[in-house]
Amino acid sequence: MTETQQTINNVIAKMIAYSDGNKHDIAHFLKVYTYARMIGEMENLTERKQEILEIAAVIHDIACPVCRVKYGNTNGSNQEKESPELVENFLKDVEIDDEMKERINYLVSHHHTYTNVDGLDYRILLEADFLVNADESEMSENAVETARERVFETNTGKKLLTSIYKLPAR
Ligand SMILES: [Fe+2]
Repeated sequence: MTETQQTINNVIAKMIAYSDGNKHDIAHFLKVYTYARMIGEMENLTERKQEILEIAAVIHDIACPVCRVKYGNTNGSNQEKESPELVENFLKDVEIDDEMKERINYLVSHHHTYTNVDGLDYRILLEADFLVNADESEMSENAVETARERVFETNTGKKLLTSIYKLPAR
């Protein structure tokens, strides 16, 4: 196992513990992580961007438990408010450099913002989360097709969306 894989496995184990027995949350982030890892690899991200993406995917919904208690919902704007401090604390003992931590924090804190997507790591996190959320929220075929045009940019992400949701080819 490489050092990077070990770091990511540690983050996954820590996030499972953080989820405190919420099996839906655990299954959700594992699905998002798997798609993000796959898309990142197939889109040839640099090793550094790939690691950032994978860690961000594992912890992207870190604010959800707090938001449920504090606001009674997990609205994106509340998550964006609560995320930065939670991510900072969570990453404190994770062995990656500060610049990586900062980027991961930015991605997690903005994963409900679909404008000013300033990098492939950000784009792929949005795509991976959408691939999972469309199913979990039973989105209509029409909405999924619209997202294929408006949200998805990578070929790998578009292919996965088309395949999972059996969309007509364009
Ligand atoms: Fe999510």
